[in-house]
Amino acid sequence: MKDLICVHTKKTLEYITQPLEQLIAPGSTYNYPVIDGIPVLLPNPSLFLAETWYQYSKYVLKQEEAAGKYHNPYQGLAFRKNAADALKKGTLSNMGLIRHAIDGIEKYFSKKQLLNVAVNNKFQDLFQVKAFNYLKRDWCGFPEAEEQLSIIRNSLSAVISEHCHDTQTALVLGAGLGRIAWDISDRFDHLYATDLAFPMASFYNGIAKGKQINFADLNFSQIRDNKHSTNSLTASAAAVGYTETDRAHINDKIAYFLSDATQLPLPDRSVSCILSVYFTDVLPFPQLFPEINRVLKKDGLFIHFGPLGNNFSQVQAMFTAEDIKAYLVKYDYESVYENTAGAWHMKTGEKMHADHYANWVYAARKKEAADPQITAAYLNADSVISLHSNFRFTITGEKSSAGETISHTLYNCYQGKEYKDARQVIDFLFLVNGKRSVRQLAIEYGNQSGDNDSIQSVLTLTQFLVREQILTIVKT
Ligand SMILES: C[S@@+](CC[C@H](N)C(=O)[O-])C[C@H]1O[C@@H](n2cnc3c(N)ncnc32)[C@H](O)[C@@H]1O
Repeated sequence: MKDLICVHTKKTLEYITQPLEQLIAPGSTYNYPVIDGIPVLLPNPSLFLAETWYQYSKYVLKQEEAAGKYHNPYQGLAFRKNAADALKKGTLSNMGLIRHAIDGIEKYFSKKQLLNVAVNNKFQDLFQVKAFNYLKRDWCGFPEAEEQLSIIRNSLSAVISEHCHDTQTALVLGAGLGRIAWDISDRFDHLYATDLAFPMASFYNGIAKGKQINFADLNFSQIRDNKHSTNSLTASAAAVGYTETDRAHINDKIAYFLSDATQLPLPDRSVSCILSVYFTDVLPFPQLFPEINRVLKKDGLFIHFGPLGNNFSQVQAMFTAEDIKAYLVKYDYESVYENTAGAWHMKTGEKMHADHYANWVYAARKKEAADPQITAAYLNADSVISLHSNFRFTITGEKSSAGETISHTLYNCYQGKEYKDARQVIDFLFLVNGKRSVRQLAIEYGNQSGDNDSIQSVLTLTQFLVREQILTIVKT
């Protein structure tokens, strides 16, 4: 847990075990629970944990209720009834594992406390419980799964060998069940692995401690026969060939924690290599990039592996490979590697359906100038900002004895993108002219009072303009 920082104060966290196991930020009231060995390094851990506990409890109850009814539609169809009964048994045992995972939260907060937190569904997308699929691919030793993992490992290894000159520290984003971090752990002195889904972290922790996880592989839609509706599987590090010595060695190297990839508990410029496997397209790239950029050292490497699935409802959020390259180059990264690696995804022998991906394998190096003042995520009320030296805008209008009438404004930013008639923004930029803190701007912009709401709205606007390289941060 060395070198982890508070996501608010940016101070190095201290580990304490009394009265509860937690990481505390010295000189502040911020503290982060460590639940069953997993540090919860979210900006608001109690909200995250309450929501996790609430959503998963609800999910488990729903699944259990549904399982109770599986056999109903199959009455009279003996074969299907057997399959349905097996699905019921498997569902109940899997839900037992999820219950067990979230039980740890109750060691930290009482049920009463948890129920009192006003949850806001911020993390709703995570509650689809994909952890069982990943347990099956990563820690059961299926030959087809091992083949997929070896394609990932070989692709990453090729890039690391050729381009990663500093192998001190790696960060694996959206690390899921940690198998990829384990498989490349021999390449680095130290690794951080992070994810945002509680069951992922909890199962990872079990595997890392050498436990066997017995679970049911459920095939609701592919009931080829009874056996294939529900398979009893066992996941463990040993099942995929890691010895006890390997396990101890890897545990010494890898620190796994729960965090949001857009707010990482790691110091600026502290990581030699960031790996994003099947993850870059989980978040819109402009949301992910500021933190990648902040924590990566100069000359550090960003490596992507995956198909760019882009399951976003907004087209603007869907970045193509060319967009990502252009984005990185714009922020002064150098593209150093590009390739395609075809691989099945989540295929195992008894599945009747699987996807095949043409994965984009890409690496970019952070150059000197990329160490920017673009850590937009870290803007606060006292940050001082100024206009970016490359920023240009034009205003057209008329000047008469009656004064000025502005008819059009136009400003250009990243990739030549143009914003027309954005008068409010231009007015705001006039205010920034020179160097101003966000707090000063909150008072001056639209004659606001400088209260928390106006600071927040100026912060949001400023973050956008920093990301677009219209403003730069002079001091955070
Ligand atoms: C498609 S899975 C890939 C898992 C892993 N990289 C692999 O290839 O085995 C995406 C992972 O990202 C995690 N995730 C989603 N949003 C995240 C966020 N904001 N920060 C960190 N992890 C996140 C999910 O919980 C999930 O484990």
